[in-house]
Amino acid sequence: MHTSALDLGSDMRTTLVTGGCGFIGSNFVRHLLETEPDTRVINFDALTYAGNLANVADLVGNPRYRFIKGDVTDREAVRVALVGVDALVHFAAESHVDRSILDSGPFVRTNVQGTQVLLDAARHVGVSRYVQVSTDEVYGSLGAEGAFTEATPLAPNSPYAASKAAADLLVRSYVHTFGMPALITRCSNNYGPYQFPEKLLPLFISNLLRDEPVPVYGDGLNVRDWIHVLDHCAAVAAVLRKGRPGEVYNIGGRSEWTNIRLTHALLDLLGKPRSLIRYVADRPGHDRRYAIDCAKIETELGWKPTIPFEQGLSDTIAWYKANAPWVEQIRSGAYRDYYARQYGTPGGT
Ligand code: NAD
Ligand code: DAU
Repeated sequence: MHTSALDLGSDMRTTLVTGGCGFIGSNFVRHLLETEPDTRVINFDALTYAGNLANVADLVGNPRYRFIKGDVTDREAVRVALVGVDALVHFAAESHVDRSILDSGPFVRTNVQGTQVLLDAARHVGVSRYVQVSTDEVYGSLGAEGAFTEATPLAPNSPYAASKAAADLLVRSYVHTFGMPALITRCSNNYGPYQFPEKLLPLFISNLLRDEPVPVYGDGLNVRDWIHVLDHCAAVAAVLRKGRPGEVYNIGGRSEWTNIRLTHALLDLLGKPRSLIRYVADRPGHDRRYAIDCAKIETELGWKPTIPFEQGLSDTIAWYKANAPWVEQIRSGAYRDYYARQYGTPGGT
């Protein structure tokens, strides 16, 4: 286990964040350290292909921050990491739908078994709060109208979504059976800095910056509800500190876009021609539309999304332009093999 120093001042609370070297987790660790001066953060992450120490390089040397390299399915590593911890936010997961279609094994191991290991360890330590970061994908797919509420029945369609729903049900059972002070968040599609370029937006932005084609699945009319990662982080922090234990909170951006409209917007912002669009075979079982009703968190906790999508999209493009070495470091690694397998064409450098 690799660790770095942590200030052990006694008037501080300690929050353990799993998956803090990934996209949302790294933004969340930074958000907590910036907004809560009395919080120490332990970042527990296995550094899988999606975990990147470069995402948290700016935090090294912060006396309120500590990194532990560990796997959430490793009972002993989790037990040791939780000593002295009073709250836990669980982001660590296998997170990409397409990879879950290629091989669902790691999704069941990390997302289901890992959650069970964390729940048991957190229960034995007696944490005051456990936040399960879930996804709107557990609700399945919508038609042209309506939005997911917290009362929408679970109907996951991909192996990824099924593994997240299974984890949610484990959390629910620990609340019911053991009185565990756990809460669940279900958020829509995030975008922003440090997102791994397998997901739609960073994949398309990084391809277009190199004048490479962008693969649009099916007819391009699937709809996603986009939220900036910093708005998501603020929502999870609100749930962590103010949410009612045992409750589920939906989080969304109130910003629905078809994939093709979004692709056109990216091309226009980057000044690239529409000839770079490639319609490719659809994702098997592709959910048609997601939309989140986030009235509950807005009403109960006073949170709402603040970053307009067009603004966030321009900022995100600027971030990927300014951080070309971060993208290149990923694209030159094992990413190339994944890209070739998923899209049947070479990707990366
Ligand atoms: P990501 O793939 O960018 O990061 C996942 C992180 O978890 C990585 O740092 C990885 O190293 C770590 N990890 C993976 N397996 C691990 C294991 N066995 N033990 C310890 N660490 C492990 O994911 P993300 O997009 O940042 O998503 C974070 C969480 O938010 C996930 O639970 C995901 O389901 C959820 N979520 C994501 C979105 C989205 O749009 N990205 C939306 C809603 C919910
Ligand atoms: O809704 C929340 C979920 O959003 C999270 O739980 C997941 O972790 C996250 O990956 C994301 O899932 P999606 O499957 O919606 O995201 P993705 O970026 O993979 O795809 C977004 C849309 O774009 C989807 O309709 C599929 C489409 N797409 C995606 C890729 C990668 C394409 O058309 N071409 C592509 O190459």
